[in-house]
Amino acid sequence: METQYTLVINDLKKRLDECDTEQDILKVKADFLGKNGLVTKQFEKLKDAVDKKLIGQQLNKLKNEAESLINVRKSNLIAASDTKKIDVSLPGRDVSEGSRHPISITINTITEIFRGYGFHKVSGKEIESEFYNFEALNIPKNHPARDMHDTFYIDADKLLRTHTSSVQIHSMKKYRAPLKIMTPGKVYRCDSDPTHSPMFHQLEGLYIDQNVSFCELKGILEKFVDDYFNEKLETRFRPSYFPFTEPSAELDIKFRGKWLEVLGCGMVHENVLKNVSIDTKEYSGFAFGLGIERLAMLKFDIKDLRSFYENDLNFLRQFRGIT
Ligand code: DAH
Repeated sequence: METQYTLVINDLKKRLDECDTEQDILKVKADFLGKNGLVTKQFEKLKDAVDKKLIGQQLNKLKNEAESLINVRKSNLIAASDTKKIDVSLPGRDVSEGSRHPISITINTITEIFRGYGFHKVSGKEIESEFYNFEALNIPKNHPARDMHDTFYIDADKLLRTHTSSVQIHSMKKYRAPLKIMTPGKVYRCDSDPTHSPMFHQLEGLYIDQNVSFCELKGILEKFVDDYFNEKLETRFRPSYFPFTEPSAELDIKFRGKWLEVLGCGMVHENVLKNVSIDTKEYSGFAFGLGIERLAMLKFDIKDLRSFYENDLNFLRQFRGIT
């Protein structure tokens, strides 16, 4: 039986070697495993065998080995013919090109402009403590300004930052004065309607040095408006209130005949500098915070804030090629 086994396998291997097509392999398969195949025939001998169990086991082994030899030969042949089919001189498949998200485009544009004015980009954390988001910014507990920020609390002390102003504190602690930083990023407020999203983007700027004046703040922000819109727009600084700046103002621009508010700003409040132990006799500074979505909507004429977050390809494709 052993020699018979080897003879059949050797014969099968030889026949498989000679196969050029799948059709040839099918023929070999029929000759060995088909109804009247060589292997199948062996099973007939089982009837008269003395040691049926042993012979039966060997025949099954033979059948399995024959099957696997045939399958391996078949897959090798398919793989070989596949490689032959590749014509490397053909042009590649069309790869659809993505586009940058309008929010990223706007952040890039704005940070590039402020980089030109000497601001260094820093990043901040989206999960903050009450200290960085409120207290250090001169917004103590029970301060009415906290109501303006509908805050998402994670636990008693941890929250999702409601503004990028929290990065002012981290930066002053880390880099000390003088410093000139900007920080774009996501902020969160428990607010959702056609003009408010629970997550949106801001960019914060902070400049601390000796003799920083409100004049400089005005000059830089007016220049920013010209650079961002690439045209001379009418601007006005409207007195306002923020706990972390004194005096505080909001900057409005006249856009298509209408006055629109674009950012909040002011001279950094003494208490804020004191909270991070910066000497207020030596240093002063200004800060501003602007809404990225608002500026993107004006520039790209986007009417609905929600378009930014809906992942509609027809909307997103319009920004192809813009960086
Ligand atoms: N943090 C303010 C807000 O989210 C924006 C702001 C106003 C930032 C005045 C500033 C500032 O740095 O000076 O509404």
